[in-house]
Amino acid sequence: MGNEKAKKRILTGDRPTGPLHLGHYVGSLQNRVRLQHQYDTFIIVADVQTLSTNFDHPENLSADVRQVTLDNLSVGLDPDSAKVFVQSMVPQIAELTVFFSMFITVNRLKHNPTIKTEAGQYGFEDNMTYGFLGYPVSQAADILFCRADLVPVGEDQLPVVEVSRFTARRFNELYAPVFPEPQSLSGDTARLVGLDGQAKMSKSIGNCIYLSDSPEDIRTKVMSAVTDPARIHRDDPGHPEICTIFSYQQAFNRDESPDIEERCRAGTIGCVACKKRMVQVIEELLGPIRERRARFEKPGVVDEILLAGTEEARKEGGRTMEMVRGAMHIDYFHPGGQ
Ligand code: TRP
Ligand code: SF4
Repeated sequence: MGNEKAKKRILTGDRPTGPLHLGHYVGSLQNRVRLQHQYDTFIIVADVQTLSTNFDHPENLSADVRQVTLDNLSVGLDPDSAKVFVQSMVPQIAELTVFFSMFITVNRLKHNPTIKTEAGQYGFEDNMTYGFLGYPVSQAADILFCRADLVPVGEDQLPVVEVSRFTARRFNELYAPVFPEPQSLSGDTARLVGLDGQAKMSKSIGNCIYLSDSPEDIRTKVMSAVTDPARIHRDDPGHPEICTIFSYQQAFNRDESPDIEERCRAGTIGCVACKKRMVQVIEELLGPIRERRARFEKPGVVDEILLAGTEEARKEGGRTMEMVRGAMHIDYFHPGGQ
């Protein structure tokens, strides 16, 4: 069997910490839906990784695991081809994490830009857990347990995927060539600005439009978003480059955005009209997503999808572990993988 796969493989996923938002959509969800049939696709619901910060609230996971799965299905992920699975139910990921942690240095993790930024956000700089510092190693195991080739992620995750690439190279060079070096892929909109104008949409800041928001939520949020503060009168010339709404026009209304930019600068479109158009555009995007969600929301549907996906993931993990044990000469009782 070796390392041969009929199709190249995608592995990506999310931490189940609450509903996914438009930032997730442009960063990763859109790519995973677009590529799901071209690649053999695995989607991880990373419950163990959630515990790297939320270890004191495991009781939220049960609902959040299902919520994140539903978000993925609602954007158009096809459960007949993509395999959505629960991280903690695939034991081979935990096994690989242990083996990888033997050769990844603490320094590499401490200097990882994503770890540094997130440690700052959570106030962990001076006192972080072993699991938090090591989450990129665990994420390398998430990606490599199925020997993935491509990892669609938001821009903030690129340094973490870099650890997976290093892990694959290092393992192959130390033991035997088992893993492809996974490539990362970010969305066209690298990062979506928050409704309050902050650098990014983030659940903890509460400046997000969620995929599951109602038409009323969308309206209220968009109409109260931060724009160019210099525009007081409708015909004041605007500065679209500093306006949150304009960045959404570029992300979700690409065709009209050059025209809006021109009219904003000339003071011939008012912010209210511009925002109303944005409300329509976002509703056109989220309306079908809301409808698909309702279809998957029937009792038992999500659970069945997760259980089937998890079973497939465990099978694939078994194949990888056979190769890993062989490469590391720890297949003591079945040398050669018999
Ligand atoms: N760290 C990712 C996030 O916070 C979630 C994740 C866990 C992931 N394991 C992964 C993403 C593997 C891509 C590949 O969004
Ligand atoms: Fe922003 Fe639109 Fe107002 Fe210009 S017209 S400042 S792009 S909301």
